[in-house]
Amino acid sequence: MTDRPGPTRRALLGAMAAGGAAAATGLAARAEGDPAITELQPWMQYNGDGVDARPYGMPSPFEAHVKRRNVEWLTADPVSSVNFTPLHEMEGIITPNGLCFERHHAGVAEVDPAEHRLMINGLVDRELVFTMADLARFPRHNKVYFLECAANSGMEWRGAQLNGCQFTHGMIHNVMYTGVMLRDVLNAAGVQDAGTWILPEGADASGMTRSIPMEKALDDCMIATHMNGERLRPEQGYPVRLVVPGWEGNMWVKWLRRIEVGDQPWHHREETSKYTDLLADGDARRFTWAMDAKSVITNPSPQAPITHGPGPTVLTGVAWSGHGTIPRVDVTLDGGINWHAARMDGPSLDKSMHRFYYEFDWDGSPLLLQSRAQDSTGYVQPTKDELRAVRGKNSIYHNNGIQTWAVDARGEAENVEIG
Ligand code: MTE
Ligand code: CO
Repeated sequence: MTDRPGPTRRALLGAMAAGGAAAATGLAARAEGDPAITELQPWMQYNGDGVDARPYGMPSPFEAHVKRRNVEWLTADPVSSVNFTPLHEMEGIITPNGLCFERHHAGVAEVDPAEHRLMINGLVDRELVFTMADLARFPRHNKVYFLECAANSGMEWRGAQLNGCQFTHGMIHNVMYTGVMLRDVLNAAGVQDAGTWILPEGADASGMTRSIPMEKALDDCMIATHMNGERLRPEQGYPVRLVVPGWEGNMWVKWLRRIEVGDQPWHHREETSKYTDLLADGDARRFTWAMDAKSVITNPSPQAPITHGPGPTVLTGVAWSGHGTIPRVDVTLDGGINWHAARMDGPSLDKSMHRFYYEFDWDGSPLLLQSRAQDSTGYVQPTKDELRAVRGKNSIYHNNGIQTWAVDARGEAENVEIG
């Protein structure tokens, strides 16, 4: 007990008295005699677990509500399904590995790295087969990138549907990857002049493949082995996944086992039937790979109401663009009548999530919250109606429209659409 750091009881009581000034601003409203201050709590009275009780640490049991969630009616079978990142429970820009949303076409492949290989074949001078140890002999690089599924916000095309940013915007995660540059691996194999496309293939039962133009492959694509400093999680493609910065998540092939070099795109199922954007006139938009600038207010939001009543209030959210950084986000509290520049905070990295805040004094009246991102190319996030005017209502993919939350006088928030 004697070596416990921290303020003494006398100091705490003094601080409470000084808290009167803070209470006047609405920032602290604790009554005197709060047992959390005046009583010894159980955890102050005995020693806790020793150092080896948790060899791989997990969050506090009090954070058990912070978890990936799915929408059961969305897909018929959890093996080919998706769950969502709890954006409203997160801070900063990095997604903890255990909270990264999952999208699998045939479940999580449990790959034994000792039995896993990466093959490079097709229009190359030398077909190569790498063990995981071979891959680690290329120079390694560290980059933070967001991965957004092209179907993120897809349920919202026709109108407000799902009540929570976890469900409307949670098919995204943002982690630091460690890996080798795809171009270094391709150069080792010697790409022939005719080799203008690659076809990465996954080792899961779905054998996922996607065509990617060689220009992108040689630019910034990575073969990643680690995320946030540890090996990839099985859900994210352990032991290797492709990283295709700024481009739709479907291309980021997990459990990567083969890369074929060819002279044209492969016309396979995924690309021709699913990953196209159907336009109003029935035409399809193909090859829309980069994810356009987008943002969402994560707090307050339907899963994260304002519970403290009127007074100082912190609004926060995230923004990202597949075309660069996000120098600016504007927010409105009144459905777009007045816009205010949000405060960007934390690292501003290329093709990575950005964090913004807007601190305001809530007067307790209903709010219509929106955020609007602008990326480093000058592109401004459109309204949903602006998007629909161009793409109609038949799309599922690439919905980067402005999200609206209606907050009522109790602080409860709801997904709505206005004008
Ligand atoms: N790779 C393989 N091998 N199998 C898959 O089912 N799903 C793709 C892509 N890569 C998939 C895959 C899709 S549609 C997306 S959005 C991302 O992986 C999801 O990555 P995550 O599970 O790490 O969030
Ligand atoms: Co996807």
